[in-house]
Amino acid sequence: MRASILTSLISLALLFPSFVFGTCAELSSLFPGRVLLPGNSTYAASVSSYFFLNERQAPACIVTPTSANEVAEIVKSINSHLRGLNHMETYGKDNGILSVGTGALWIDVYKFLSPLKRVAVGSRVASVGIGGFVTGGGISFFSPQHGFACDNVRNMQVVLANGTIINANATSHSLLFRALKGGQNNFGIVTRFDLVTHPQHKYWGGAIQYPESADATQLSAFTAFKEGPYDPFSEIEQTFVYVGLQKVFSSTNNLFYTKDGVNTSNLRQFTDIQPQIVNTARISESSDFAAELEAFQPMNQFATYSTISFPISGGVLSKVHSLWRIYPSTASHECPAKFAAICTEFQPT
Ligand SMILES: *[C@@H]1O[C@H](CO)[C@@H](O)[C@H](O)[C@H]1NC(C)=O
Ligand SMILES: *[C@@H]1O[C@H](CO)[C@@H](O)[C@H](O)[C@H]1NC(C)=O
Ligand SMILES: *[C@@H]1O[C@H](CO)[C@@H](O)[C@H](O)[C@H]1NC(C)=O
Ligand SMILES: *[C@@H]1O[C@H](CO)[C@@H](O)[C@H](O)[C@H]1NC(C)=O
Repeated sequence: MRASILTSLISLALLFPSFVFGTCAELSSLFPGRVLLPGNSTYAASVSSYFFLNERQAPACIVTPTSANEVAEIVKSINSHLRGLNHMETYGKDNGILSVGTGALWIDVYKFLSPLKRVAVGSRVASVGIGGFVTGGGISFFSPQHGFACDNVRNMQVVLANGTIINANATSHSLLFRALKGGQNNFGIVTRFDLVTHPQHKYWGGAIQYPESADATQLSAFTAFKEGPYDPFSEIEQTFVYVGLQKVFSSTNNLFYTKDGVNTSNLRQFTDIQPQIVNTARISESSDFAAELEAFQPMNQFATYSTISFPISGGVLSKVHSLWRIYPSTASHECPAKFAAICTEFQPT
C-alpha cells in the first residue's frame, strides 16, 4: 500500500506543576514558535479538540513536536507530566499495514484508506483520535469480524519515560505491547501505531430511531439476535435514551452489515420494527457513518460511562431496561435541567 504524510503535528500538553512554567520557557527556546500558551487561539483549539468537556485540561503550555525524536527530546527535558497527543501523521508501508501518528482522527484514516478499498478497525465516531481509542481497546463497526482496535495493531512506537524511543510489538518489549493494548496511558507515549488494514468495500448501515412504544419489541429482537447464530458481519448498538430537555424516551439502533452489498441478514429483525421516527440506512462507507454517529452524539458535552458484561437470558434486558427507566426522574431531581441525556445501551460481544 502506498501512502503519504498528511500532516505531522503532535501536541503534548504540560499540566500543572509549577516547574512547568520554567519548562515552558525552556521548551520555547528549544522549539521556537511551537509552544502555545493560554490565550493563544491555537492553544484554545487544541484544548477544545477533545471530544468530551471532561477530557479537556488547562495545561501551562502545549508544545507541538513533529517527530518521535522531538517527543523524546521533550520527555528528557521535562521528565514528567505529559498528556494529550493530538493531530496526525499518516504514512504507509507496502504490506497492508498503515502507520499512523497517534493524534490522527479516525475520520482521516477512513478517508485515507477508502480509495485503497481498505479499512482499519477504528472508531464509530468521526473525530475520536487514534491514540486513546487504540490503547483503550476500541469497539468498531468491524469488531464482530476483527476484534477490538487494539487486536489489530502490529507495532507501537513508544517514547519511554527516560526519553528512549522503542518499538513495542510481539517480539520487542512484548509485555509493554500487551499492557498498551487496552491499558491506556501512563506506560509511555505512543507516537505511532502500525495498524493492520482489511479489504473493505462500501457496506450497509445507519441509524434507526423508534418511539418508546417499540421498547418491548426492541428488547426481544436484541435477545433473539444474541441467542441466534453468530454473524461476523452484523454490528449493532441498541440505545435507549431519555432526553432531559424534551423529557422524551426513545430508542435508537446503530446497525451495520459490513459484508459488501445490501443484504442486512439477521439485522432484519431490527429493521422490520415499526413505527420508526428516523431511518438513515444506506450503502456507504466508514467515514460517512462515523460522521453521522458524531452528529447524533455531539462534542462539547460532559459524559460519564459505566459498563458491565453479562450473559443473555430471557428477561434480563427487560430488567435492566426497567431499572434504567427509574433513573431519569432521580437525575432530574438531583440536577434539574442540567443533563442532556441518560442512556442505557446494549452491545453484543
Ligand atoms: C500562538 O502561538 C504561536 C506559537 O508561539 C505563534 O506562532 C502564534 O502567532 C500565536 N497566535 C496568536 C494568535 O497569538
Ligand atoms: C530507558 O529505560 C529502558 C526501560 O527501562 C531501559 O531499558 C533503558 O536502558 C533506559 N535507557 C537509558 C538511556 O537510560
Ligand atoms: C518489533 O520491534 C523490533 C525492534 O525494534 C523491530 O525490529 C521489528 O521490526 C518490530 N516488528 C514489527 C512487526 O514492527
Ligand atoms: C440474505 O442472504 C442470505 C445468504 O446469501 C440468504 O440466504 C437470504 O435469503 C438473504 N435474505 C434476504 C432477506 O435477502
